[in-house]
Amino acid sequence: MNEVYVPWSPLYEIGVSRIDEQHRGLAALISEFHAALGAGKAREQVFPVLNRLVRYVEEHFRDEEALMEAGHYPELLRQRREHEKLTLEIFALAERSQRGDAEITEEVMEFLKSWLVDHILHQDKKLEGFFRDRGVPAGWAKGL
Ligand SMILES: [Fe+2]
Repeated sequence: MNEVYVPWSPLYEIGVSRIDEQHRGLAALISEFHAALGAGKAREQVFPVLNRLVRYVEEHFRDEEALMEAGHYPELLRQRREHEKLTLEIFALAERSQRGDAEITEEVMEFLKSWLVDHILHQDKKLEGFFRDRGVPAGWAKGL
């Protein structure tokens, strides 16, 4: 009961508060989406959650790229391509399911969950070490 689909772990934190908050927000939205589906809520109630998720992903990627740019992160271009690819995938998924072409299934939820966890653990975590050595760019440090 009330099981959280994507529980937050301190291991996911990269030490830049705005990004950590967004990752936390993404995990919460995916969990909310999963709970709405599990509760058998009508499509009209499930789609707004999916739309919020899509918008939030875009905002998050924009901010993350701004951080990388500010910090002269050498993998920015690679990350930007990765972000574009994932954004397109999520857009396509949202569109297809909204048209009724695709069922939002457990498989789709697994995709979102593993995407988020992989994105954080394999890509964003590298930022933690990078900024540990060089310092977080001005305006991005904790508490600002
Ligand atoms: Fe991220």
